[in-house]
Amino acid sequence: MKKYYIRTFGCQMNVNDSQKMAGILKSLGYEPARDWKEADLILVNTCSVREKPDQKVLSALGEFKKVKNKNPDAVIGVCGCLAQRAGYEILQKAPFVDMVFGTTNIHHLPQLLKEAEAGNKAVEIIEDIDQSETELDRYPTVRDNRYTAYVTVIRGCDKKCTYCIVPYTRGKERSRRIGEVIQEVKWLVDDGVKEIHLIGQNVTAYGKDLGDVRFYELLYAVADVEGVERIRFTTGHPRDLDEETIKAMADIPQVCEYLHLPIQAGSDRILKAMDRGYTQKEYLEKIELLRKYIPDIALSTDIIVGFPGETYKDYLETVKVLKEVEYDQVFAFKYSPRPGTPAANMELTENPEDVGKRLSDLINMQKEITFKKNREYENKVVEVLVEEQKEDELVGRTRTNKLVHLKGGHNLLGELVKVKINKVNRFSLEGELLQQLV
Ligand code: 5AD
Ligand code: SF4
Repeated sequence: MKKYYIRTFGCQMNVNDSQKMAGILKSLGYEPARDWKEADLILVNTCSVREKPDQKVLSALGEFKKVKNKNPDAVIGVCGCLAQRAGYEILQKAPFVDMVFGTTNIHHLPQLLKEAEAGNKAVEIIEDIDQSETELDRYPTVRDNRYTAYVTVIRGCDKKCTYCIVPYTRGKERSRRIGEVIQEVKWLVDDGVKEIHLIGQNVTAYGKDLGDVRFYELLYAVADVEGVERIRFTTGHPRDLDEETIKAMADIPQVCEYLHLPIQAGSDRILKAMDRGYTQKEYLEKIELLRKYIPDIALSTDIIVGFPGETYKDYLETVKVLKEVEYDQVFAFKYSPRPGTPAANMELTENPEDVGKRLSDLINMQKEITFKKNREYENKVVEVLVEEQKEDELVGRTRTNKLVHLKGGHNLLGELVKVKINKVNRFSLEGELLQQLV
């Protein structure tokens, strides 16, 4: 049996695409390799959101090249956002690569592989969206986690934030038909999945291009599938998060009390330059609305520090929002100019060397807030979905997405249990099993 190895960079969309590619390879008779060194096929699924992941891909390829020393027939393929944006450049820099394909050509993997195995360079990067891309949806995913699963509901993004490469690498918004999403959810539940995680670059825009369905209706439809015990979704855009969605989140028992809502920056001047389509006040009103309907909701966000023209005063507006909202988790990044985006032509911040310090100060401040939020769980009883058994402990997540290590139970994989939290760490909680819920 031939063996494959997939290395995935980037966001949940790439993770899901890799799971689908593993599904395609399984249908072709491949099995997973434990190590890339023993693989007959190595696929690198790339990200292009910042410059660092770009570099990581090239160094990973330099390493993977060695697979051909022992196995000259091994095939190396590159796909994902960097392949879409700079596939031909990759071929030049890494001529040993056999296969390159874009973000909407993944379903052609079987044909591309045949071509590469015959000793040809297999390349498919098209600028327009491949109309048959949804064929990918028909493949079952191969997942590490048996009890939680991603379901792609919308591809692409129409927002065109000035710093962001995604609209160029993944194209305009395309929602999947609701019936097809529900069919996939049913398959997953039949396969033992308890938690459905709806994903898209901008899930809250779901249905806009279809015209006859809205995101909150999708939430109700997923909740109606027998056996769905938890629902999450990522990523929502503050501008598209409407009151109907928030009401549905509060009303549907399975929708978890957790939301990732990227703000990117606190200063109105910078938000405008980013073309985010909201002011700080409007964003904070959304948070207020979320907390009105779902008082115990956990929140996380993305922040970019050092966007072109950001002054210390602008930065302090971001710090102010972090202190005011008290997010459970913050993902903060240094601004990275992306070729072809409008912001790449803007003047950089006056003192670029200050940006590193701004970022580390912000991360340190948030560390304390995260710890404070975790401490609120001390002695609380929470619902945990048990996802993993590790020697003498079980590992799972709360509805608010906190990682929990627990003792006192066996044979509980995939079960919802009640846990009393008795120890709080910076990045996880520890607890004792009280009882099984279902
Ligand atoms: N530079 C830095 N961070 C970026 N992000 C997107 N584009 C850039 C960029 N050019 C961040 C945003 C986004 C997250 C996925 O990555 O915060 O929400
Ligand atoms: Fe990028 Fe904005 Fe789309 Fe998010 S919503 S992917 S930040 S363009």
